[in-house]
Amino acid sequence: ESRKKRARALAANRDAARFYHEYLKSPGGARVRDYIAQRQITPRTATRFGLGAAPDQWDGLIRALSEQGYTKLELIEAGLAVAGKNGGVYDKFRSRLMLPVIDVRGEVTGFTSRILPGEEGAKYLNTPETAVFKKGRLIYALNFAKSTKRPNLVLVEGNIDVITLHQAGFDNVVATMGTALTEEHARILARYTRELVLCYDNDPAGKKSTDRVLGILRNADLNVRVLQLPNAYDAAGNPLKQDPDDFVKKFGPAAFEKCLSGSAGQNDYKLDTLQQRHDLSDEEGRLAFLREAVETVASLRSPIEREIYGNKAAAAAGVSAEAMAQEVKRELARRM
Ligand code: UTP
Ligand code: MN
Ligand code: MN
Ligand code: MN
Ligand code: MN
Repeated sequence: ESRKKRARALAANRDAARFYHEYLKSPGGARVRDYIAQRQITPRTATRFGLGAAPDQWDGLIRALSEQGYTKLELIEAGLAVAGKNGGVYDKFRSRLMLPVIDVRGEVTGFTSRILPGEEGAKYLNTPETAVFKKGRLIYALNFAKSTKRPNLVLVEGNIDVITLHQAGFDNVVATMGTALTEEHARILARYTRELVLCYDNDPAGKKSTDRVLGILRNADLNVRVLQLPNAYDAAGNPLKQDPDDFVKKFGPAAFEKCLSGSAGQNDYKLDTLQQRHDLSDEEGRLAFLREAVETVASLRSPIEREIYGNKAAAAAGVSAEAMAQEVKRELARRM
């Protein structure tokens, strides 16, 4: 029974993706087509990612899929329709850019969707959790990235980041649905790669997510690196938010390739961010940095890593490697 329900939800989502994709090419899809062009996504890329347009109607999809034999209840259970208070049923997605979320086996499990410029509402709206749309284990574009010849996978925040990076030749880029990476995501990623490069947005939210994700990845069987995009500034010198999509469009694929090969190992990244948070020209700042660095280094699994990064932290703060090693040893004893 539940197997039948899953199959039915997958079929409905596949047919919905076809509908939205066809609608994109029709006169009613003009606004979304213009928006896709404005984002510099080529028609070819749009087709590869199955992009579509949801009509500016209350029941455009419901009418089309009802004709194909789906009941309203099935469409609700597939996350494509919602029941209103008055007993009516209407389309979940209206007047939006539609991005099908395809699982690693190539099945359409649901959608994420973007609002068009000038409209009011949530920027991104996803399919709710259904029998087949499980945010905690879906990885966007893994169906493509699983056959990359590159030596790693790159994890970004946004679906559009994924699309423009693939278009720029980086077929190893994936995203979770939002930035909430789970242990389950980590286990799945570890099946497909030895190395994961985190490349979240270069803004406070992206940095916070990076730290949280590094914590989750501690137990994963993955070599983890962090690609920090360079800071960008506006004409007045104020920092600009910059994500991989902005970056690759502004500076091109070669510049992104360079950032990728220059990405830091996770331990260097952690020590770098610690250093940035403290003033090492000041004695108190150095002590505060060292207190945190001792904890970071003590958390490393291998004695060799503890020696390497302990020495780096000691050098940064201008203390002896021996003193640092002793502090790390004390911290480890305290944790026993
Ligand atoms: P961002 O705000 O960085 O979006 O959120 P973006 O991908 O750069 O969007 P564009 O370039 O303006 O189109 C990163 C991710 O967080 C989730 C989405 O998955 C988004 O891609 N998000 C963001 C939401 O789910 N809802 C929101 O309202 C905003
Ligand atoms: Mn962001
Ligand atoms: Mn963006
Ligand atoms: Mn972004
Ligand atoms: Mn001070």
